[in-house]
Amino acid sequence: MANTILVGAQWGDEGKGKIIDYLTDEADAVVRTQGGNNAGHTIVHGKRKFVLHLIPSGILRRGKTCVIANGVVVDPLALVAEITGLRKQGIPVGKNLLLSDGAHLVMPWHHALDEAREQRKGKNKIGTTKRGIGPAYGDKAARTGLRVGDLLDPKEFAEKFKARQRENNAVLRTMGAKPIPLQPSLRHYLAAAKTLRPFVTNTVVWLHGVMARGRGLLFEGAQGTYLDLDHGTYPFVTSSNTTAGGACTGSGVPPHRMDKVIGVMKAYTTRVGEGPFPTENEDVSELLHGMGREYGATTGRARRCGWFDAVATRYAAMINGIDELAITNLDGLDHVPVIKVCTAYRLGGKTLKHPPTSAADWALCRPVYRTFRGWMKDTSKARRFGQLPPAARVYAKALAELTGAKLSIVSIGAAHDETIRL
Ligand code: IMP
Ligand code: MG
Repeated sequence: MANTILVGAQWGDEGKGKIIDYLTDEADAVVRTQGGNNAGHTIVHGKRKFVLHLIPSGILRRGKTCVIANGVVVDPLALVAEITGLRKQGIPVGKNLLLSDGAHLVMPWHHALDEAREQRKGKNKIGTTKRGIGPAYGDKAARTGLRVGDLLDPKEFAEKFKARQRENNAVLRTMGAKPIPLQPSLRHYLAAAKTLRPFVTNTVVWLHGVMARGRGLLFEGAQGTYLDLDHGTYPFVTSSNTTAGGACTGSGVPPHRMDKVIGVMKAYTTRVGEGPFPTENEDVSELLHGMGREYGATTGRARRCGWFDAVATRYAAMINGIDELAITNLDGLDHVPVIKVCTAYRLGGKTLKHPPTSAADWALCRPVYRTFRGWMKDTSKARRFGQLPPAARVYAKALAELTGAKLSIVSIGAAHDETIRL
């Protein structure tokens, strides 16, 4: 396999986990390069369902190596819990998992700060997953973070932990939040450090070794384009680069070694948390929630739902350099008689073909819709593109054309075989 970056083209939850699992057959290693356990990737294997947060989806397959690279923020307790959970489900986790010594750690004060900041923001809150992601990346940028490599020396780690805990407790107190007690917190992190030590390595060197042997890497994006710290609906974003460039800085694999970018997008749009969403629609939300779909894998929150937004996906194709598209959840629209797609925005008497930079402006945009005839048929049994109802084919082709990339995968269910390769 060529080195492939897989990104979400919308606001996250595009169904990346399933597509990654599908493509893993062709890769030798699966690499996470950004985000933390704010992500939730759901994978269905037969009758079994797995939800992964930090560990790449490739862990479910024998003979594949999974890498948590330098750009990820790692909550050591969450990672240990995930490893333990997988082992309990009969999935071996050992030499098939590598953890970068340069990845930053999510510490208990990051959780507390995330919570406290959200509370102070009141109705202007971001709606974070409260996993401490923003404060952890904040410490990274401020050069005050702890890294996975620090876990290797327990004595030194304890010293650094205490110093950071003191400083952050002072901040928490001024915010009226509860300070973090040193114990049992430190003990828990030292125990986690012991469990994680065997996985720790310089993943940059390892990844370059894989490439030198002519093997292929699959980069598993987390979240989506519009949650990107630079290109998303700031400040209603996450704190990492969720777009294709993040795969390079987050792994130490240079841009010219990347061969392909696959963009994953739902056949409609969803978003969790606050922030602009021009095509949000109550009827679409009601319909999908009624089908038991679109509840968050990490927080269980009901996702906001709406029509497909081609203004957003077209811009996402530009930023990420999307070569190929995977459309997921097409089956979610199986029983919708008339389907709408946003092709432009109207703002202040002007027609926009690209989203505005300001989230406040974006929130004022009115979608211009094109309507499509629904197919009113179950699509989940289709295995070839030609087996889809004609109206569904027209719709999927139109989404790819409006986005400006080649359609290569259509997913019509959570299971591995409910996938059409074009
Ligand atoms: P944070 O990443 O927890 O700081 O949350 C910031 C924003 O990103 C919130 O709107 C979250 O709902 C959203 N978010 C973070 N991770 C994911 C994800 O994996 N899927 C969907 N939304 C996410
Ligand atoms: Mg998710």
